[in-house]
Amino acid sequence: MCGIAGAVGLKDISNVLFDGIRNLEYRGYDSCGVALMNGKGIVVKKNVGGVGDVYQKENILRHTSHMGIAHTRWATHGQVTRNNTHPFLSCDNNFAVIHNGIISNHLELKNRLQKEGHRFLSDTDTEVIPHLLENAYKKTGNVEASLLQTLKQLEGTFAMAFISNYEPDQLYCAKRESPLLLGIGDEVKFIGSDFNAFIDHTKNAVIIDDDEYAILSKDSYIVKNFVTREEVNKPITRMEWDSETSKKGGYPHYMLKEIYEQPQTVLNAMEVEEKTIDGLVSMIHKSKNAQLVGVGTTYYVTMYANYIFSSLAGRYIPAISSDEFVSLSPVSKDSFVLAASQSGETYDTIAALKHAKAKGAKTGAIVNVMGSTLSRMVDCPVLQGSGPEICVISTKAALAQMILLTRTALKLGVKNKSLTQKKYDGYMESLKSLPGIIESILNERSGFIHRIAHKHRNVKHWLYLGRGMYYPIALESALKMKEVAYVHAEGMPCGFLKHGTLAMIDSDINSIVFVPPSSEKVLYESTLASVAEIRARDGYVLGIHFDEGNRTQDLYSEELILPPVPPVIAPLIQMVIAQLFAYFTATSLKRNVDKPRSLAKSVTVG
Ligand code: AGP
Ligand code: GLU
Repeated sequence: MCGIAGAVGLKDISNVLFDGIRNLEYRGYDSCGVALMNGKGIVVKKNVGGVGDVYQKENILRHTSHMGIAHTRWATHGQVTRNNTHPFLSCDNNFAVIHNGIISNHLELKNRLQKEGHRFLSDTDTEVIPHLLENAYKKTGNVEASLLQTLKQLEGTFAMAFISNYEPDQLYCAKRESPLLLGIGDEVKFIGSDFNAFIDHTKNAVIIDDDEYAILSKDSYIVKNFVTREEVNKPITRMEWDSETSKKGGYPHYMLKEIYEQPQTVLNAMEVEEKTIDGLVSMIHKSKNAQLVGVGTTYYVTMYANYIFSSLAGRYIPAISSDEFVSLSPVSKDSFVLAASQSGETYDTIAALKHAKAKGAKTGAIVNVMGSTLSRMVDCPVLQGSGPEICVISTKAALAQMILLTRTALKLGVKNKSLTQKKYDGYMESLKSLPGIIESILNERSGFIHRIAHKHRNVKHWLYLGRGMYYPIALESALKMKEVAYVHAEGMPCGFLKHGTLAMIDSDINSIVFVPPSSEKVLYESTLASVAEIRARDGYVLGIHFDEGNRTQDLYSEELILPPVPPVIAPLIQMVIAQLFAYFTATSLKRNVDKPRSLAKSVTVG
């Protein structure tokens, strides 16, 4: 993962880089560092800790410079230590390098370089790069040629950047598979892992494609392909997000802000053009076998869609976790593979779609980040328009994807005649009512959810249970609890309980049950049967249900009663409740909510 940033052309570069990598901290936050070019040569400052801490500890803002690179790390090779923090220098201190990705042949390269006398100070894969550059420069006496020679020897994935004493006004970068963008200002140029690296300075970006490298100076930039060596004419993409929407706006955490933004996120998803949805519908309709992919939360989103497509459109579209896709899924030229990904940069999902494309399948993707790798590689991209999601924990982006997939299922239902137009209109009305309902639930129920989360903050094990389309909601909600509160939570279909897990039920394990509205008679009754099974064994059950006015006190240990809502939006409302429950558990336990330990927002490594 990691975040990389760089800039050339301003006087206060260390300040600019501070904002750059702080905005990228969601990509990695175990350690960080900068390399700055000053009148005398390259200065490297780095340490373990977050960007704010390291900047203070190392007094980085005191260093003036017109050009520099910066990195916030999510370690893949080598522990989180100062020595393993980027940037890395060549032995002669003439090259400073930062890198995102994995150099898969680093051991072989390191062995060779060590034999040639190079001294390594870290255990990272990245450190081979500055030494290769140094070697190449000795032979070529030219920085660009050194980069080309180095790139030829690297296997694996990289977005890398470097500065060199030999060309103190030029910033170099190159990419294969890991994301990299240029920011184009009038008298300043930037690089970044994504747009957030330079969001405060320019909206004009150039998206670097695989096998390309760029050389930037204050007033110019050039992009070339390192395989063909030809110059590439790149369009400028205008990024519409502004830095204000990327700020916390009075909320204590981005997670809470993003949970509260969900009414707007749903509205935005409802405003995605009909013709875009029709594009997906027609791809699914034409394909002999359609499949859904995503990983982590977005896998649960696609699993939810699997139920939605079956129930609303009478079409079975399996969901496969991206990381298992290549082993599991039979794809051919008759397939359509539709991915969901907030970042559009997730390695596993990109790998799944590459595999599908190689087999001749058609592809689509619902993504939140414009210009991301996935949005550019598929036949049918859909931009969900949820605005920046900064918290590592995905909330609003997942909900928006569920809305878009529900809209797609509804239209597919009409197209294949499993839904009448009248029913379609009714479902759409229900979807339109969702923003208002979420808004009032967030306002009216958050106090209760806060209290109950605080009360149960020391519970060590939770079972999250649901049936039918409430099952992926249970899985996703359990993931929220694990990742933000570090509390063990297991999502499970209710029906599984009596096939084993019931043996675990005692006073040490709590259950949350997602109960459908009673109008879904079969699901409702079978869910209540599972509640009774747990209660009969002295298990605690928190019921989240819609039985306002009914007598349910004896059924649950505690209950969160929601007003009656149309069944098509009921699971989504419960998911929002579970997001808040995880959030408040995490704040009660004083967790690092927006940047949980060991995680990163964009998982760009496999
Ligand atoms: C979400 O809360 C997680 N942090 C994670 O599971 C995430 O959904 C997953 O890594 C996929 O990311 P993507 O949507 O950007 O592809
Ligand atoms: N492999 C490099 C390291 O461990 C970069 C990691 C990454 O991009 O996540 O430092």
